Amino acid sequence: MNINVISIFPEILDSSSKGLTGKALEKNIAKLKLIDLKEFSNNDYGSIDDAPYGGGEGMVIGVEPLEKSLKTIKKPGHIIYLTPQGKVFNQKKAVNLSKFKDLTLICGRYEGIDQRFIESYVDEEVSIGDYVLSGGEIAASVIIDAILRNLDDVIGNQDSVNKDSHSDGKLKGHVYTRPSDFKGKKVPEILLSGDHKKIDEWKLANSLWVTREKRPDLFKQLQLSEKEMILLRQYGDYLTKKHE
Ligand SMILES: C[S@@+](CC[C@H](N)C(=O)[O-])C[C@H]1O[C@@H](n2cnc3c(N)ncnc32)[C@H](O)[C@@H]1O
Repeated sequence: MNINVISIFPEILDSSSKGLTGKALEKNIAKLKLIDLKEFSNNDYGSIDDAPYGGGEGMVIGVEPLEKSLKTIKKPGHIIYLTPQGKVFNQKKAVNLSKFKDLTLICGRYEGIDQRFIESYVDEEVSIGDYVLSGGEIAASVIIDAILRNLDDVIGNQDSVNKDSHSDGKLKGHVYTRPSDFKGKKVPEILLSGDHKKIDEWKLANSLWVTREKRPDLFKQLQLSEKEMILLRQYGDYLTKKHE
């Protein structure tokens, strides 16, 4: 996968070449090309932004530097502008975007970018949440990380990605490691039993329970099978008994 990022502060994305993203880059599963928009000014002052027509606060990144920088990319593929006005990013979108061979992310700053660039080149506007950041770089990092997790061989065990929260509408639920007893707080006994069928059932029931507790909005959208309803009821009974 080739991911291009156009930004006036590409160095912010440099830290993306560590950790998970770094692993994907090292293994050549993905290539990250950072393009410095400051190099594409079309005036003698070297600026890439200007005051907004019609007045108002802030500066706007111009259409010409953006176009010039985009033209340096051989295959831009699917072009995304990161903006708080876009459709809110989620796991489903991360999985869909991971299927593109070429992806280009445009990071704005200040008041944003000239609308004519969006209309001429952008395929999709994406937001990482209903709040305003000072630039698109952090949003691009978030999106790149979430996309790369879905590519084969980036995470050692792809099965763990498929079982993560949001992969099938549920949250993953509680996880534990040693010690089995922390100041009297014990790990649920079933997890120490070695009975894999029972453990899987506990994990499913716990995941449904956690989803209902933490994200009732997600829980409402689940279509539970009869078996899942029984497991959830039994889990509730077990918790009630534990607290009696
Ligand atoms: C200060 S913001 C501009 C906000 C713009 N004036 C508005 O009200 O819609 C500067 C840049 O940060 C990025 N940005 C800010 N919030 C974002 C979000 N929630 N998701 C994705 N990108 C965001 C965008 O690239 C945007 O052009």
